Amino acid sequence: MTDRIRQVTMEDLDRVTEVEAMCFPAAEAAGRQAFLERIQCFPDCFFVAEIGGEIVGFINGAATDSRVIVDEMFEDGSLHNPSGAYQSIFGLDVAPQWQHRGIAGKLMRYMIEDARRRGRRGLILTCKDRLIGFYEGFGYKSLGVSQSVHGGAVWYDMILEFSE
Ligand SMILES: CC(C)(COP(=O)(O)OP(=O)(O)OC[C@H]1O[C@@H](n2cnc3c(N)ncnc32)[C@H](O)[C@@H]1OP(=O)(O)O)[C@@H](O)C(=O)NCCC(=O)NCCS
Repeated sequence: MTDRIRQVTMEDLDRVTEVEAMCFPAAEAAGRQAFLERIQCFPDCFFVAEIGGEIVGFINGAATDSRVIVDEMFEDGSLHNPSGAYQSIFGLDVAPQWQHRGIAGKLMRYMIEDARRRGRRGLILTCKDRLIGFYEGFGYKSLGVSQSVHGGAVWYDMILEFSE
């Protein structure tokens, strides 16, 4: 279904901002400036899925030694630590008309394999309770309610640690 998954470029800035606005309420959606910084600071941890040349979804996040995401990381791309032990997931988005076709799963598996190849210890993310089961399907485990107050919502910390 997905034509390809590739690394983001600055030319994708407007489209990823648009897809994010379709996927998240305004209080939670990252804006153009945040994506600009992320593409500048960690393009190699930011992948887009294309169908027919159009971006239909993406996954991105900084690397860090922390086992949980803290809110500052969402807005400050410079907190990215290229050699960090954990790959975080700030966002996994699939445009509404392309959902339920396995695209998010492909993006997540791509990010997991990439983190493994780079020798990271694992991956971390925060999610709402309704998606805990979705992420458990990839091997993530819940660490309970996160300290994050991002967008005024309740989030759960999830972690996937590679076995030695
Ligand atoms: C969450 C999101 C990325 C999923 O994208 P998608 O491409 O539709 O996902 P996939 O098709 O790869 O996987 C969906 C499947 O996962 C499984 N799944 C979904 N939620 C699940 C849950 N809570 N428990 C167990 N399995 C679940 C189901 O089998 C589901 O199949 P279905 O869509 O036919 O019901 C997409 O809905 C989205 O962008 N939502 C808005 C943004 C968002 O909430 N992102 C997550 C941020 S934490």
